[in-house]
Amino acid sequence: MKYLILIFLATSVAGLRYKFHRYLDRSHKHENLIGSTYSAEMALGMLFVGAAGETAEELWRALNLTNREDVLGKFEDLQNMQPYTIEMFNYLLVNRKYKVKETYIKQVAQYFEGVIDSVDMNNSKAVTSKVNKWVNDRTHGTVKKLMSYVGPDVNGILLNVLYFKGQWAKKFDPSLTQQDYFHVSDTKSIPVQMMVMRGRFRAERFFHLGIKVIELPFMKDGLVMLIYLPTSSDGLDELEEKIQESTLPQERQLVNLRLPKFRISTKTKLKSILNQFGIQNLFSPAANLTGIVEDSNFHIDDVIQDAFIEINEDGIETAAVTGGRSPAMDFTANIPFAYVIRDSHEIYFQGHVIEPEWDI
Ligand SMILES: *[C@@H]1O[C@H](CO)[C@@H](O)[C@H](O)[C@H]1NC(C)=O
Ligand SMILES: *[C@@H]1O[C@H](CO)[C@@H](O)[C@H](O)[C@H]1NC(C)=O
Ligand SMILES: *[C@@H]1O[C@H](CO)[C@@H](O)[C@H](O)[C@H]1NC(C)=O
Repeated sequence: MKYLILIFLATSVAGLRYKFHRYLDRSHKHENLIGSTYSAEMALGMLFVGAAGETAEELWRALNLTNREDVLGKFEDLQNMQPYTIEMFNYLLVNRKYKVKETYIKQVAQYFEGVIDSVDMNNSKAVTSKVNKWVNDRTHGTVKKLMSYVGPDVNGILLNVLYFKGQWAKKFDPSLTQQDYFHVSDTKSIPVQMMVMRGRFRAERFFHLGIKVIELPFMKDGLVMLIYLPTSSDGLDELEEKIQESTLPQERQLVNLRLPKFRISTKTKLKSILNQFGIQNLFSPAANLTGIVEDSNFHIDDVIQDAFIEINEDGIETAAVTGGRSPAMDFTANIPFAYVIRDSHEIYFQGHVIEPEWDI
């Protein structure tokens, strides 16, 4: 079993990742988005290690398992980032009429930051309030209402919860933050709390793509936020179709940066997306999850991802104001933009900001 975990986590599933994220982009076209393919893969990995036969095979195929190196370390690295920046965990609710295997409970705790809970699905109220309280505690009070209903016919639901609150390597000076307008579209502008900084960053203007990109480092080594800014308020769609990867020049340049504070919370039911990627058996009575429970008719009803991000001025040191009057690139994020949070190995989060919300 351990071997299978290693293989699974070693995958580089560029194809699925890209499609998965494009699907999220499109299905959240008109609203703020934070999503994590990386974490969804972890969640599926947790189910994969308990799957056998046809169910294991469809996960294997959909995730395009190829590379057999050990990347468990990657997940451990991620856990080491906590509690500063990212929290990611999986919570599997199993109808208590099924008996969960001890070995599975141990594996899930060890490799996936996972918890398994056998619950009385007949008591919807007690289950939802227990789950909501647990998730709320683990996300510092940000995710208040994840579950709204369970019923006697529910077999298993996997909750994949993520929380990100970055600390910048160089913080924004809160006294410079001012109210400004964000142009959601040609005809709609909303007030936002705009943070301001003048500093040196890796940044580039890609004329052929009509976008500007900036890289903002977090205090955790190597973790950065890339912001992709189109040239007009209706340019995001096209931008998201075009960008996959971009390489920025090593050299930093002076930038006048304006970025709104924002909080985003996104809840996505993944079943219908995963269905499109050929993961169907897992969600049907034919599922073979004999590594999880003894009984043969157990299956998963849905996988729900709930992710939260907060971006504000917080950081570790004050940014020195450099280059007095020298010319600087202007980077004003006052129209819908896309972002990615990553290090050199992994993309942890991707999303977009359509209408920055702060007091939610
Ligand atoms: C699956 O992985 C192989 C090898 O890395 C790659 O060539 C292929 O394009 C991938 N398929 C998809 C659908 O991503
Ligand atoms: C699950 O798959 C295993 C391995 O292929 C097989 O031995 C077992 O009979 C299957 N169980 C069910 C319930 O399909
Ligand atoms: C839940 O309700 C169903 C029918 O509504 C019943 O068959 C089952 O025994 C109940 N389960 C529990 C754990 O009470």
